Amino acid sequence: MTQSAASATRRRLLKAAAGGAALAATGLHAPYVIAQPAKLKVGLMLPYTGTFAALGNAITNAFRMYVAEKGGKLGGRELDYVVVDDESDPAKAVDNAARLVNRDRVDVLVGTVHSGVQMGIVKVARETGVINIIPNAGAGAATGELCAPNIFRSSFSNWQTIHPLGKAMVERGHKTAAWISWKYAAGEEMFASFKEGFEKAGGKIVRELWLPFPNVEFQALLTEIAAAKPDATACFFAGGGAVKFVKDYDAAGLKTRIPLYGNGFLTDGTLQAQGSSAQGLLTTLHYADGLEFPKDKEFRLNYAKTYKAQPDVYAVQGYDAAQMLDVGLRAVKGDIKAQKEFVAAIEQATIDSPRGRFTISKAHNPVQDIYLRQVVGEANRFVSIAWKALADPARGCRMA
Ligand code: BEZ
Repeated sequence: MTQSAASATRRRLLKAAAGGAALAATGLHAPYVIAQPAKLKVGLMLPYTGTFAALGNAITNAFRMYVAEKGGKLGGRELDYVVVDDESDPAKAVDNAARLVNRDRVDVLVGTVHSGVQMGIVKVARETGVINIIPNAGAGAATGELCAPNIFRSSFSNWQTIHPLGKAMVERGHKTAAWISWKYAAGEEMFASFKEGFEKAGGKIVRELWLPFPNVEFQALLTEIAAAKPDATACFFAGGGAVKFVKDYDAAGLKTRIPLYGNGFLTDGTLQAQGSSAQGLLTTLHYADGLEFPKDKEFRLNYAKTYKAQPDVYAVQGYDAAQMLDVGLRAVKGDIKAQKEFVAAIEQATIDSPRGRFTISKAHNPVQDIYLRQVVGEANRFVSIAWKALADPARGCRMA
């Protein structure tokens, strides 16, 4: 042992001895000290930079708000956060998730937004058994062929939110459509689902247009849509990319000639920035403005008070991720290692969400209503229920 290491050890021993003497002076002995449970370590792996930054922040805000509503404790345990910006970069996903689990020793991993990054988290969750609650990413495999007892979603599957859109478009007289999106897992899965629903309703896709994530150079593709002259356009964009797409579509003079549709990520959390370009757009999603649920009213009031901003679908999903964690932790009195009981409690729960109550499918995805909404001012106003209690088909999931 070096001299400095030896003196550090001596200091530690003296400190411990002093502590013991102080304890003895109070008449207490170590075995009678009531131990506080260790804090539960929550890894928040979300995008805080780039086109999905606002989504990551909304999820984080609402997750923390739920915990604050519960006095800072879930299942009797205080929470400690380890926060990682995943940058919506799939190449860094496995390393980031593995570091949270193996180095930072998080008890639960809440993440993420981007489907490609999610696949890295799913790999680590399956290998380590850590509880993963997905507060957005719709990657089908997470609750499909790679489903697992320790993986839950508080949001949606990529199939789920856009499947009802095709029928709604055909009902409005649109028989042909162009499709445009980013070429990555979420865009591709949403396209497959939209196609399935649109064709089943009698529609035909006449043009497929793609650009790499998170590219926002839309001009050449908008020219192609104009030339193809479909009855309507359907798309998936979200966050900063959705803001630019809606504005560019309008500026190109297409909005009045070829109506634009999408799942609601196109206009959620984006309306202030999109302004008049978004007015009147119809979208489908599992959340809307103007739902009359008491839970929604309470949630919106508290969110506005806490963050001086209106909540969006991403905030709802963050809030519900915390609600699901709470359900599990309460059932095991904070002992998240009692994983069987923790999992069973969430599986059996009905979550009182701002979006409306939902249950959890056998594959661990919400079974939920999908709403048709229309943009009016700065609201995605509820129009109707496009699909009641829609469950993801969970193709390939052995638990389903
Ligand atoms: C996804 O990558 O799964 C995704 C990202 C933003 C909004 C919706 C889905």
